[in-house]
Amino acid sequence: MTINNVSLKTEVKSPLSKEIFSQNIQLSNFLIAKGVSDAIRTSFGPHGMDKVVVSDKEILITNDGATIMKNANFEHPIAKLLFNVAESQDSEVGDGTTSVVILSGSLLGASLNLIRRGISQSKLIQFLGVFLDETKKILIKIAIPVNLKNSNALYNAACTALESKVISSYCHILAPLAVKSILYLFDKNQGSNIDLKRIRLIKKKGGTIEQTEFIDGVAIDYPAIKSYGGPTKIIRAKIGLVQFPLSSPNTDLESVLVIENYAHMDKLLKEEKQLIISLCRKIKSTGCNVILQQKSILRDSINEFAIQILSQMKIMLVKDIDRKDFSFISEALGCSPIVDIETFSSDKLGFANHVEERSFNAQKVIIFKGIQTRKSKFVTILLRSSNKHLLEETERSFHDALCVMRSIIRRRFLVTGGGAMEIEVSLSLKQYGKTLTGINSYCFNAFAHSLEIIPYTLCENAGLEPIEIISRIKRYHLNGKKTIGINTRRGILGNMIKENIISPLLIATSIFNMSVEFAAQLLKIDKIIEI
Ligand SMILES: Nc1ncnc2c1ncn2[C@@H]1O[C@H](COP(=O)(O)OP(=O)(O)OP(=O)(O)O)[C@@H](O)[C@H]1O
Ligand SMILES: [Mg+2]
Repeated sequence: MTINNVSLKTEVKSPLSKEIFSQNIQLSNFLIAKGVSDAIRTSFGPHGMDKVVVSDKEILITNDGATIMKNANFEHPIAKLLFNVAESQDSEVGDGTTSVVILSGSLLGASLNLIRRGISQSKLIQFLGVFLDETKKILIKIAIPVNLKNSNALYNAACTALESKVISSYCHILAPLAVKSILYLFDKNQGSNIDLKRIRLIKKKGGTIEQTEFIDGVAIDYPAIKSYGGPTKIIRAKIGLVQFPLSSPNTDLESVLVIENYAHMDKLLKEEKQLIISLCRKIKSTGCNVILQQKSILRDSINEFAIQILSQMKIMLVKDIDRKDFSFISEALGCSPIVDIETFSSDKLGFANHVEERSFNAQKVIIFKGIQTRKSKFVTILLRSSNKHLLEETERSFHDALCVMRSIIRRRFLVTGGGAMEIEVSLSLKQYGKTLTGINSYCFNAFAHSLEIIPYTLCENAGLEPIEIISRIKRYHLNGKKTIGINTRRGILGNMIKENIISPLLIATSIFNMSVEFAAQLLKIDKIIEI
């Protein structure tokens, strides 16, 4: 595979060992990381281009850094390492994955120039450590505190994350939903962490993104069984979570059942029906009027006769529920899974004021409202979109917006976007560099300069003139206007707070941490050993 004409297999194998050995191994590592970084740059920011990733299984349209890297299937270990960095950023904070890759590439570019001027790698690793410490100090100084009651700021941060996505024109729909979901789950007595697993995203193809909605309650992605007139709506629902089959047991594989005449057959069928009827009566006697039944792998989880009886008893039935959904349903509805009919009792049932099936074109979901027995709070977002690719990208983008909200809850500070923060940090670092002498100052400046890659790329992708714009932004900053950046949507320089382009401090800090660590890691590698 080649990226920007850099072959990912440039090493020469030593004939004596399995070591991949080359005098230029470090150079090629740097070029590969830089090549990957450059390839990803075009997807950065609001004017970033989308990538179509084609694999054997599917086609994917995205501009999400981590998703592109994941699907690029890099072969070279250094490219894989860079992918791991993007992946770590994604799992740690959920946004800023493209920034990490771009900044890593820029720091490596600066390192390469310094190495060519004769500065040793160990010295550079040392500088990177100081660079990171100073950057974090500057970030804390320029960060803007945010109050969770300031819903405008939260909305704007979510919108900034969605700005760069395919679905950016729907940020007025998705950003408020992200803010609402996180604030709904946030409980100040339970610390600052929000488990995003408690936000269930159900994707339904059909309709438009504008029809995406917040479900005040819990929704599950299954239909109700309607044959024999089974109910699809229950008021004052008592919900049983059934893990046992409602069908006659299978005969032992080894045994043979000989039926000699019709009378015997009738008797057998009658007994089978009696068994089913007694099971259903027992269920009914507990007050249960909604059954959620787990899929059985050994035999039919329910037979036609049982479906008929439950319908007659006006018990709503949802069958074949995946095992992996059971623990969520149990926690969200507050019902205990019931493993056999003997232990089926009313204390194991969950209670909801209203349970109803809703249709989206040919697809259905069951919605539970007014749950009185829940153990934890859950949110369901019903994502809608006209086609599968857009729906999947909507899910990824909405996840980014949720991560931004979660980051703000964890650390309640924001930084300016549109390159303003990077320019301010870069200038402050250069200021710090002036306190050093000789070569030290030179190295520090080179690293500080590498941050300009962020506004540079934002401008470049938007078709604006990067060098001129960056020097104008710098002038503003040197005159004390530290929040000036570029709004590439409007093509103007402005105060990024007023332009509503803001991001969480936590994500910015993580971008610096991860990219500096990656650059330092690469500086230490002098051999790749294949096993
Ligand atoms: N209107 C805007 N004008 C200028 N810059 C913007 C605007 N909106 C967002 N940005 C900037 O875009 C950058 C984010 O772009 P993007 O979301 O593509 O990258 P990322 O967050 O690093 O990666 P990913 O979202 O793929 O994980 C941030 O630097 C942000 O400040
Ligand atoms: Mg982003």
